[in-house]
Amino acid sequence: MAALEINNVCKDFGSEQVLKDVSLAIDSGEFLILVGPSGCGKSTLMNAIAGLEPVTSGEIRIAGESVTWQTPAERDIAMVFQSYALYPSMTVRQNISFGLEMRKVPKAEREAAVERVADLLQIGHLLERKPSQLSGGQRQRVAMGRALAREPKVYLFDEPLSNLDAKLRVDMRTEIKKLHQRLGTTIVYVTHDQIEAMTLADCIAVMRDGRILQLGSPDEVYNDPVDLFVAGFMGSPSMNFISATLVGGSGAYRLRVETPGEETLELPWPQERETPALGEKVGERVILGLRPEHFTEDDARLGEYAEGVALTPRITVVEPTGADILLQLKLGDGEATARVGPKCRVKAGERLTLRIDMGRAVMFDRETEKRLA
Ligand SMILES: Nc1ncnc2c1ncn2[C@@H]1O[C@H](COP(=O)(O)OP(=O)(O)OP(=O)(O)O)[C@@H](O)[C@H]1O
Ligand SMILES: [Mg+2]
Repeated sequence: MAALEINNVCKDFGSEQVLKDVSLAIDSGEFLILVGPSGCGKSTLMNAIAGLEPVTSGEIRIAGESVTWQTPAERDIAMVFQSYALYPSMTVRQNISFGLEMRKVPKAEREAAVERVADLLQIGHLLERKPSQLSGGQRQRVAMGRALAREPKVYLFDEPLSNLDAKLRVDMRTEIKKLHQRLGTTIVYVTHDQIEAMTLADCIAVMRDGRILQLGSPDEVYNDPVDLFVAGFMGSPSMNFISATLVGGSGAYRLRVETPGEETLELPWPQERETPALGEKVGERVILGLRPEHFTEDDARLGEYAEGVALTPRITVVEPTGADILLQLKLGDGEATARVGPKCRVKAGERLTLRIDMGRAVMFDRETEKRLA
């Protein structure tokens, strides 16, 4: 039985359609991440699941039961809002245990729950303070603690770590992952953070303009995007989109990439990645999608680049990130980013031989922006 099922949900605010026929289902214990640009409807969907906003049409089911017309309290959900409102007159301890008190949980159990989440979220030293005496990041952790003190059917977290510093954020991410592995609770989680999405999710829903464009495992949305938007949205730095002409025919398709002032490249398209759609696009302009890590400068890694094609572009910018180096290079009618190892010694203005792993490349239709192959 699905822990959470959303069937054809639409939500209008006045004349604006904010959710347009949203459907999804997640199993008990699954971790679903919602991503998408600001204003695409993520919080509206969370509020609809929680029962804070009535839907215009469609149905929401929790643990097999329709909750579409139930109040938030009846739905047995714990939520952390994007604007984590705490009760200002209560201490941190009271804020965390209040929900349990409302549910008539005995005192000893409430106290144990407070200790448990305070420890988890590193807020033990703040328990007797009021929200006004906390920093934004501390308040956010208290809001998280308030939700985690309970054991509801579903947790809803709307950007719960957005106000934390980089280190704490990574620590909390690991804690949430551990907690999920230990308790196996069902979680719906909104984030703008790519790494959070990829590391926490069992399943990612990529939203745009009130619709779900793709629902799949992190591996699917990253490596097998359905369209140009999903491909460009997932991953940082973004996938490179290179204008190319499809030439050749079945068994020997190639992508011709013309770069002003450089030799024209013909990149062979791997036969096992051919699709019937390619037949109709021969001679036409298409968009080649290559992630920065699909370029390599390191011959030691060539084994996995059996389809590799060499190019020697001029490097325009070198950006060391610590763990690796990002290179900007001219390719096609624009620039592309390549991610190379930290030992690469190339300088801006020099040329460097790189190989492209065509085994992981993707191709899109220019007009429809849908995946071709
Ligand atoms: N109560 C409301 N009345 C009218 N319009 C609303 C209301 N709540 C949200 N909207 C509109 O609905 C759209 C979706 O908003 P929502 O808050 O769901 O976006 P979001 O994906 O959560 O964005 P963000 O990433 O910025 O939090 C926006 O255009 C917003 O202006
Ligand atoms: Mg939001």
